[in-house]
Amino acid sequence: MKLFDKNDILQVFKSRASTRSYDGTQKISDDDFNAILQFGQLSPSSVGSEPWQFLVLQNKDLRQKLKPVAWGMVNTLDTASHIVAILAKKNARFDTPFFDEVIARRGLTDDKKQQALAVYEKFQRDDIAILDSEHALFDWASKQTYIALGNMMTGAKMLGIDSCPIEGFDYKAVNQLLADEGLFDLNEWGVSVMVTFGFSDKEIRPKSRKSLDEIVKFVE
Ligand SMILES: Cc1cc2nc3c(=O)[nH]c(=O)nc-3n(C[C@H](O)[C@H](O)[C@H](O)COP(=O)(O)O)c2cc1C
Repeated sequence: MKLFDKNDILQVFKSRASTRSYDGTQKISDDDFNAILQFGQLSPSSVGSEPWQFLVLQNKDLRQKLKPVAWGMVNTLDTASHIVAILAKKNARFDTPFFDEVIARRGLTDDKKQQALAVYEKFQRDDIAILDSEHALFDWASKQTYIALGNMMTGAKMLGIDSCPIEGFDYKAVNQLLADEGLFDLNEWGVSVMVTFGFSDKEIRPKSRKSLDEIVKFVE
């Protein structure tokens, strides 16, 4: 069943633009921000791992502390209505309590649980080969968080809310800062990406993109 007209959907995609200048007087309503969080929550993730947490950074002092280490949002730390640090799970291996919860969420019988775990082990060990490296495991979890990031930004635009994804920060320093504030355990979680939300105070520039001819190949 078609839910929306494609031209309406394209309009959303064309008008979403990374926003570097917010009207600091406008705040996103609690209801709308809750919906944005749900766009993240409802996003797909590999094997249903949901290896994310959303840290909503509203504290003014903390935002000040981020300024020297987050150059990619230095101009919007004061004016963004909401800022989210998206955390990715570390060490999300098939043989950890984290994965026991993944399996539990699927509501499988004990037999099926063992089968599913065997599939996940092969997947992580052989197919995407991430078990030998903490870095590769973290990157795998981080990839999932970027799906949530995209959905949150597009969904926000549908509500008339602007956003900007943020990779422009010193990862080590930001992780340490947030962990020192007691916001998460560095052994368990790490920031994968951040995102600002608010209301742009500038006109959106027309999009520049490669043509479909350059990026698409149909294999018949
Ligand atoms: C993962 C990611 C990280 C980004 N990090 C930053 C950032 O730190 N600061 C910034 O101003 N823009 C950042 N951008 C925005 C890009 O520059 C922008 O998406 C790109 O130029 C395309 O423009 P558009 O988003 O307006 O279509 C980031 C984009 C992505 C996808």
